[in-house]
Amino acid sequence: MKGRILVTGGAGYIGSHTAVELQNAGYEVIILDNLSNSNAEVIDGIERITGIRPAFVKMDLQDKEALRQLFEDYPGIKGVINFAASKAVGESVKKPLLYYRNNLVTILNLLDLMPDYGVEALVFSSSCTVYGQPDILPVTEEAPIKPALSPYGNTKQICEEIITDTIHAGAPFKSILLRYFNPVGAHPSAEIGELPLGVPQNLLPYVTQTAMGIREKLSVFGDDYDTPDGSCIRDYIHVVDLAKAHVKAVDRMLNGESADAVEIFNLGTGKGVSVLELIKTFEESTGVKLNYEIVGRREGDITKVWADPEKANKVLGWTATETLADTLTSAWKWQQHLREKGIM
Ligand code: NAD
Ligand code: UFG
Repeated sequence: MKGRILVTGGAGYIGSHTAVELQNAGYEVIILDNLSNSNAEVIDGIERITGIRPAFVKMDLQDKEALRQLFEDYPGIKGVINFAASKAVGESVKKPLLYYRNNLVTILNLLDLMPDYGVEALVFSSSCTVYGQPDILPVTEEAPIKPALSPYGNTKQICEEIITDTIHAGAPFKSILLRYFNPVGAHPSAEIGELPLGVPQNLLPYVTQTAMGIREKLSVFGDDYDTPDGSCIRDYIHVVDLAKAHVKAVDRMLNGESADAVEIFNLGTGKGVSVLELIKTFEESTGVKLNYEIVGRREGDITKVWADPEKANKVLGWTATETLADTLTSAWKWQQHLREKGIM
């Protein structure tokens, strides 16, 4: 065993895939989750994939005394990966206090208690949303932070600042801030994947639900942008690739390889894909025809963004390896699994 890692929000989409990769790499995983946006059966899925059942503590990370009890019950936690957060951009505009409270109180509790229990490393889930519409593409970690377009985006910026200030003030641990581009897809086993509640807001779950007939038609939000085919461009990264980057980040900090006490890495493929290209690749790789129509722009969407992943490639030693076709196929396989299980 390489050491104990606490994965907050580990029953969620990215957290569950990361728990799998941490266990595959020999870490002991403790999952903390209040199941506000996930299901306890995910723990079974992780066990079926890895053969190891991670410890699971159902609790709210806003509850500091419960967190203290967790650290008491599981001594020797070496690292924390903090996925626990509320993440729906639109909802955050309507319920800002819910977002500020959940996303900030949770990180404050961790930062307060980690030193008491000798935790050496913190990985934080940030987002390319901090760059807004970048002036230069691909976007590097040095690109300026733009004013946030939503309370959700603002919480990511504020959390990055809180962690950085805390470490600069002498906190006895290191941190890596990971700025994800657009995580999509599912584990190839289809044992775990994304489980959006209600009508999906993100593109790929909407695509797979439309392909399954759960939604009648996909709306493509705009074909009059300043891009080659007029639809918006993003950097879609397979969630398993993304999960593996977290293992690299934990290894780096625990092995004493960090160049600075706080480091930032972009996690993307480096390739921009338009909405229409994604639809075409989905149809070609799954053989399923998609019912879609072009509608007006969605408010707040940026035109185009994709990562310069060179720092992650060279410094972290991590590169996204999955193709877009395989990524989309994994998402479709997951959707089929949900149908087979009668979930949707
Ligand atoms: P998710 O909702 O699937 O996972 C988050 C998990 O945290 C859920 O299981 C939820 O139940 C749990 N949680 C929320 N608040 C909690 C609390 N107070 N106490 C305990 N558990 C709590 O989301 P995800 O897509 O896996 O995202 C994980 C992280 O990555 C989030 O911080 C998110 O903001 C960030 N992120 C996600 C994306 C994306 O597109 N999915 C992009 C950039 C950054
Ligand atoms: N889109 C459609 N139709 C849909 C849904 C989305 O055309 O039904 C388009 C959007 O207009 C956008 C692209 O598909 O051009 C991707 O949209 P998503 O909502 O899937 O992703 P975003 O890039 O808008 O945002 C997501 C998360 C944010 C996160 C960001 C970067 O929702 O929280 O990725 O990680 F910050």
